[in-house]
Amino acid sequence: MSLHLSGVSKDLGGRRIVDDLDLDVDSGELVCLLGPSGCGKTTTLRMVAGFLIPDVGKVVIDGRDVTNLPPERRPTAMVFQNYALWPHMTVFDNVAFPLKLRKLPRAEIATRVEAMLELVGLTHHLRSRPAHISGGEQQRVALARALVQEPAVLLLDEPLSNLDAKLRVRVREDIRDIQQRLGITTLVVTHDQDEALSIGDRVAVMNGGRIEQVAPPDTLYHQPATRFVGGFVGAMNSLSGSIENGKAVLAGGTVVAVLTPCAAGGTEIAVRPEDVVLAPDGAPARVERVVPRGHFTEIVLDLGGTGLRAYLGPDDPRPAPDDTTGVRFRRALGYADGQLIG
Ligand SMILES: Nc1ncnc2c1ncn2[C@@H]1O[C@H](COP(=O)(O)OP(=O)(O)OP(=O)(O)O)[C@@H](O)[C@H]1O
Ligand SMILES: [Mg+2]
Repeated sequence: MSLHLSGVSKDLGGRRIVDDLDLDVDSGELVCLLGPSGCGKTTTLRMVAGFLIPDVGKVVIDGRDVTNLPPERRPTAMVFQNYALWPHMTVFDNVAFPLKLRKLPRAEIATRVEAMLELVGLTHHLRSRPAHISGGEQQRVALARALVQEPAVLLLDEPLSNLDAKLRVRVREDIRDIQQRLGITTLVVTHDQDEALSIGDRVAVMNGGRIEQVAPPDTLYHQPATRFVGGFVGAMNSLSGSIENGKAVLAGGTVVAVLTPCAAGGTEIAVRPEDVVLAPDGAPARVERVVPRGHFTEIVLDLGGTGLRAYLGPDDPRPAPDDTTGVRFRRALGYADGQLIG
């Protein structure tokens, strides 16, 4: 089932929280809604689920206008940011609840609930109550309760925020597997760019109640449509200057060669740290700091009075603080008024 938001706005507490938002999620697609805290992600999800009604605009699911329908009359299941588990029920009963509401046979409920709890690694907590399990475990119960319903549209609000790094990767891969296997149309809210890029078919970047760009992960990373998107998704060097004749001409007069074709113009130049290449005959730069980051090395350079971050691979020569080196850019993007040029 496809999901379609058009011109959706919502005011809360006298402020515009979601502002003329358009978003499409195709049938069976997983879209991540990524953005900083307070940008309106949860508010958007609540309007899709029916817990909030937009002031203007439409929510359409599978071609049907559901804008004013209550949650229980929509084909959606939502995992809330705060889990919203029933404290008086055991883990098993929490997950079984939506299936009991649908009056499924007891044996089928038991089979499905047990399979789902196995998937999220909580079989040993079947009889526990929410107060007696950890935050991460509660989060997994909430996830199991949504997934067990096999909804047509799944809405997840920061579903992995309380899991440790390892478990987070495992559970997000499991969510992706189930979602693909069952063809569930899914909208996942996150402020973790790594999570968004790794599971989303497409990622929608939201800022101040608006969507700045919706694109597949690679496009979003390599062609950020706005300066905000470039800075929010991954690390980005932002330098004053413009692109001229395939070179980056910085405001201070420093000229850096760019190794791949790039559109001319702009007042600001964006360069990913991994696209800063050290080359003895490049534009001179002084090494200020060398920071080991495990699988790569981060160095902070002074390039004509401007700070520049570079990531070096394990085989690259590693300079020392106060060394003078030369730099080139593998890729560079020009921005004017915060918008990508070209
Ligand atoms: N009922 C409400 N009344 C007044 N303001 C509200 C209400 N609900 C949300 N807001 C405000 O709307 C803004 C967006 O809230 P929302 O929960 O959608 O953000 P979010 O993007 O999900 O952030 P986070 O990543 O921190 O969860 C916040 O500034 C919040 O204070
Ligand atoms: Mg939120």
